[in-house]
Amino acid sequence: MTLTRSTFLQLAGAAALAPATLAQPGARMQTRKIPSTGEELPVVGCGTWQTFDVGPSPAERAPRAEVLKALFEAGGSVIDSSPMYGKAEGVVGDLLAAAGTRDKAFLATKVWTNGRDAGIAQMKESMRRLRTDRIDLMQIHNLVDWRTHLPTLKAWKAEGRLRLLGITHYTESAHGELETVMKAERWDFVQLNYALDDRAVEKRLLPLAQERGIAVLVNQPFGGGGLLRKLSGRPLPDWAGEIGCSSWAQLLLKFVLAQRAVTCVIPGTSKPEHMRDNAKAGLGVYPDARLLERMTREIAI
Ligand SMILES: NC(=O)c1ccc[n+]([C@@H]2O[C@H](COP(=O)([O-])OP(=O)(O)OC[C@H]3O[C@@H](n4cnc5c(N)ncnc54)[C@H](OP(=O)(O)O)[C@@H]3O)[C@@H](O)[C@H]2O)c1
Repeated sequence: MTLTRSTFLQLAGAAALAPATLAQPGARMQTRKIPSTGEELPVVGCGTWQTFDVGPSPAERAPRAEVLKALFEAGGSVIDSSPMYGKAEGVVGDLLAAAGTRDKAFLATKVWTNGRDAGIAQMKESMRRLRTDRIDLMQIHNLVDWRTHLPTLKAWKAEGRLRLLGITHYTESAHGELETVMKAERWDFVQLNYALDDRAVEKRLLPLAQERGIAVLVNQPFGGGGLLRKLSGRPLPDWAGEIGCSSWAQLLLKFVLAQRAVTCVIPGTSKPEHMRDNAKAGLGVYPDARLLERMTREIAI
């Protein structure tokens, strides 16, 4: 895919805004503003789909506790979950309670059901599992019955039970509908799929989010893991060091974060060493338009 003029200009803007030096040891993760509130959000978070859907055994829980510790130690805060992710919400809630770190987390979860009453019951259950009386971001998962849930979400926001509202999807075939919904209402957040080999959102959805002041969470930055697996046998390009990357994971996350419309990327992981690796993409400089063009040309998947 070649760069369009508008994409080039957005990326050139991103390069101009990036810090001029590479990350120093001990540097804190960068943050970006949530447009609707001005609140600063750390740019790398943690997804929980499959990776946090585990039982109560210490062998399963301990690595996930370390993942969250690594996230916070790196200056990150965003944890994304959903009632669709099996036991993940409960695992996150238990681990935050045990570590006493609820106040370090920006908790994002979702409503994923049909009907007003079912939505209310599900959100109450999410709060119980997450062990909190206030969710930072409630998203309508895959747009399921969004018109029905929105009045409840607005009412709960007014009551302080939810701080911010959003919508999500994960596949290009839904982008037309996502665009319509982004235009139909005022959302604090949109969550969408974006990766080096999955760039459809560059054309319309990222510019639209910027235009309408909607913060963007990016899911599946590693293509659900498949993109990283394909690249893992290949040596890192010699120019990776120019943007402070020492792994393919960091390189793929910096590709996503080069877009200024992106507020935070939420790679899923069950492994503390992967969380530490991913968090490093929140430091230093991001690829400029010249390097992005080279990335998309040379990293043909
Ligand atoms: N509709 C929606 O709203 C929607 C849809 C999809 C996803 N999401 C959200 O977005 C999050 C991210 O998407 P995703 O989890 O599907 O896919 P992803 O982040 O693209 O990939 C996750 C996979 O990458 C591996 N991984 C992570 N960091 C790594 C590293 N540094 N080195 C090597 N492997 C690494 C993980 O395995 P390890 O456990 O081995 O690290 C995991 O298998 C989800 O967890 C979920 O919270 C939302």
